[in-house]
This record gives sequence, structure tokens and C-alpha cells, in this order.
Amino acid sequence: TAPADVRWLGTPIGELKRMPDCGGILPPLKNNPGQHTVLIRTDLLQNGKVPVPYPSKFMDTWDNVHVRMPCSSRNVFPVKDEVIIQRFRYVFNYKRNIAFIFSALSKVLEPDAVEHLFDSLLPDMALLALRASELCTKPIPLLKRGMNHSITMSQEQVACLLANAFFCTFPQRDFRETEYLVILIFLEIKTVVHLFLPTGLVTFSRRRLDKPPNWKSSKTLLTKLHITCEGTIEDDGYGMLQVDFANKFVGGGVIGSGLVQEEIRFLINPELIVSRLFTEALDDNECLVITGTQQYSKYKGYSETYKWNGRHQDTTPRDGWQRRCTEIVAIDALKFRSFLEQFQPSKINRELNKAYCGFAHPEKESQNLAAVATGNWGCGVFGGDTRLKALIQMLAAAEAGRDVAYFTFGDSKLMTDVHNMHAFLTQRNVSVGEVYDLLGQYYSSVCRSSLTQRPDVSLYSFIYSQVSSSEVLGGQQTPSEHR
Ligand code: AR6
Repeated sequence: TAPADVRWLGTPIGELKRMPDCGGILPPLKNNPGQHTVLIRTDLLQNGKVPVPYPSKFMDTWDNVHVRMPCSSRNVFPVKDEVIIQRFRYVFNYKRNIAFIFSALSKVLEPDAVEHLFDSLLPDMALLALRASELCTKPIPLLKRGMNHSITMSQEQVACLLANAFFCTFPQRDFRETEYLVILIFLEIKTVVHLFLPTGLVTFSRRRLDKPPNWKSSKTLLTKLHITCEGTIEDDGYGMLQVDFANKFVGGGVIGSGLVQEEIRFLINPELIVSRLFTEALDDNECLVITGTQQYSKYKGYSETYKWNGRHQDTTPRDGWQRRCTEIVAIDALKFRSFLEQFQPSKINRELNKAYCGFAHPEKESQNLAAVATGNWGCGVFGGDTRLKALIQMLAAAEAGRDVAYFTFGDSKLMTDVHNMHAFLTQRNVSVGEVYDLLGQYYSSVCRSSLTQRPDVSLYSFIYSQVSSSEVLGGQQTPSEHR
């Protein structure tokens, strides 16, 4: 174990690549019907200027492949005696929310804040919500299962959609979204207003992995690892590809069990929440990458002790598309009920491919790829084993051509163990395929015959002993290889 004052191991974090420095030049932003829906005038895009919505007039679409907009003429509901009311004009489906707001407000807010809420925040939000037909003129495609598609919109458009979600003006939507937003408002009451000012863009990309790597035969070597028991993905992983430990319904929202990594990220970078409006549940081979969201809040604590900790000034530089250089990838791990289950080859394949889908960016050269900033993915609420998951993520990152910054979230023993394993494997040039093979061997020779939930031989001890003994044997049995 490392001495107590050792806070990080491996490659210094300064040597890992970050955006915008590593990114190379972006192609011009272009709408492309089959691949990329852009909701603004790209020709007028300019640093510091509020993006102009495109087209100039609201296109009223009402079907199963686009977000049904509150301002659509079809958004009606019958009331008494078949009178049809357009819901959007009718000051929303607002009552449920108000009741909810009042009951919770009395508990959490100072009188000043309540006044602020009703005198300025809610009216401002209502005005913004009502601008939907002026701001969100182009139909927003639903990012459905199996689609490879991106949506780019302005932060102002995002804010308008969020304001509408808050007031329940979207037709036929689950109440859950609203609850989620109301909670957001409570927690971030002082910051939400500022959601409405920024001038950048945000891109939401749903990505599907069509051809998983052949893990077994991969000759790829591990990439660099920086591992630390201090800091967080969002603070210290700026400019890197930051992992959201997601639910397949991105954003999670299992708020009952406390705010954990994903929910916290969605609260401090609330523009992420809009993805819930158009992103269908992720499949095993899919991820969602969100580029350009801004951090508005600081927090302290975690889960039950989570607390809003003031406004955050986000100074992250913007890229050529006026997006903050904050790239977040939502990948959902499997939830395990028993410890042994996760070592089954099918589960390992699923997690490898999920992580690889999140990390790989086939159109880009490896030299232009930022490191992955990650940590105990799938190992909190979802009950995975940190040592296995760290290894899986290192394999996926290597295959995707990215280095790794790993945040153990205070666990210094884990930091040492993972560092030692990584150093051991890299010193011996053990490839991704060989590690993959060792995972399979561990399952068949240890897990399958284990009578207890925790096998007596840990994964890492198994790997150490297998690799060491094969070195010895390898030297004796196949001298020809050394010629
Ligand atoms: N930076 C680095 N590591 C962190 C951070 C952070 N900011 N926050 C937490 N950790 P968990 P899961 C570590 O339980 O198991 C949500 O409801 C910390 O050690 O959020 O994949 C989703 O919507 C923590 O225990 O991820 C899903 O429904 C560990 O990361 C579900 O939880 C895992 O965080 C996903 O659960």
C-alpha cells in the first residue's frame, strides 16, 4: 500500500490530453438530415452572439418520431362538453406543480427565496416557456433505439425546453420529468435564472456500436493511467471525456435513494436534463454523448449529504461550434444482484462493449482524443466490483486509443491496487486480448466452481499468478519464441 501522503500514482495528470488543446479542427457545423439535426442558423453562428433559431417560422409537426411541442396546434385536450382547449395557451397543466412547490418550499426555502421565486423566477420561466414557437422552430427528432443521430441546439433553446418541461406543457409525458425539474429548481434556485443567459450550443449524440472489437484477438497494449484518490471527474477531468455513471434512462432520477453521481451531474449541469425529452432508453450497444453543457452550481457532500454549495462560474473555453469543451458520455453499467454474476463472460462482454461504445470515436485520430475521466462506474448503486470494472474500462479505453484518468473517490487502497495491476500489465506488454483471456479463465477456473459469493482467490491475485507462472513456463516450453 502507498504511504498516506501519496495522493496519485501513474502518469502525471498534466501529461494526459484534454480538449480543446488535443482536438484538432472541427469540420464546419452543418445540418445533415440523416445524421445531425441543427436547430440554429449555422451561417450566423458567432462567439458571444445569441444563436438564431432555424427555420424562422415554427414548423408544426405532430408524429411519433419528433418531440411533440407544447406550442403545436395539435396539443389540445378536451374539457367539458367537447370544448377543445389548446393546452399551451391555457397556462399549462400547472396546478399539480404548484401544490408540490408549496409543500416543499415551506420546508427548504428562506422567505426571501420564496419571494424571489414567485416575483421573478417563475414569471421569467413562464415567459421563456411561451417563446417555444419562436425559439424551437424545427422539429426535434426523438433519439430512438438504434439511431445514430446528433441534435445541436442553443443553450437558449435548451432553457426554453426545460422551462416547458417544468410547467408540464409537453403533452403525454410522464410526470417524473416534472418532479425531476421541480427538485432541480429547489436545489438550484439561485442559479436557474442564469440558465437563460448563455450564448453557446450543446450537442446531444446518440451513438450505436455496430461492430464490437474482437476482444479475444486484440493485440492492443494498455494506454497510460493516472489514478488518484482525490478530486472528481467533473473538477479534475476538465477537457477530458467525462463518464456519466448512467441509468439506461439517462439522467436516472432515482432521487428517492439519494443523489448519486449521475443525478448530481444533471443538477450541476442542468442542460443535460433536456436529453430526457428525446432520448429513448439506451440499449446494450448504445451511449449518449453530450457536448457543451455548462456547470452552474457547486455542490458538497454526496448522496444523502448532498448540498448545493453556491453558484459556479464556468470558464471552460468554447470550441469552433461555440460549445463549452465539456464532453460527457452517458454509459449505463449493469446492475448486479450477486457478486459472481459480473464475471460471466456474457456480462464482461456487455460491459466492455458498452464502455468501448462510449469511449471510441472512430472518425477521430487517436492523437486528437482526450483522455477518459472516469472512476467507479457501476460500482455504487449498481453493485459492481471496482477492481473488475477498472480493468474493463482500461481495456475499452486502450482499444479506443485513449488514456485514462481514474478517480477512486477517496479509496487509496483501490488507487494502489489498480495502479499496481496496470504497471504489472504494461511492464510485461500484456495485451488487451491476453487480459480478456485471463478474465475468461478466472471465470471458468475460479468463479464457476466457487461455493461462496466471494471466491477465495481474487481476480487480481489470479492474474498475477497466471501471468507470472506463464512467464516461467513460457521460458521453458517455447524457447523457439525467443530466437
Ligand atoms: N467523481 C468520481 N467518482 C465519483 C463521483 C464523482 N463526481 N461521484 C461518485 N463517484 P453511482 P452506479 C464514485 O452509484 O453504480 C444513478 O441513479 C463513488 O465511489 O452513482 O453506476 C444512475 O441514474 C460512487 O460510489 O454509479 C443509475 O441508476 C461510484 O462512483 C445508477 O445510479 C458509483 O456511483 C448508477 O449506479
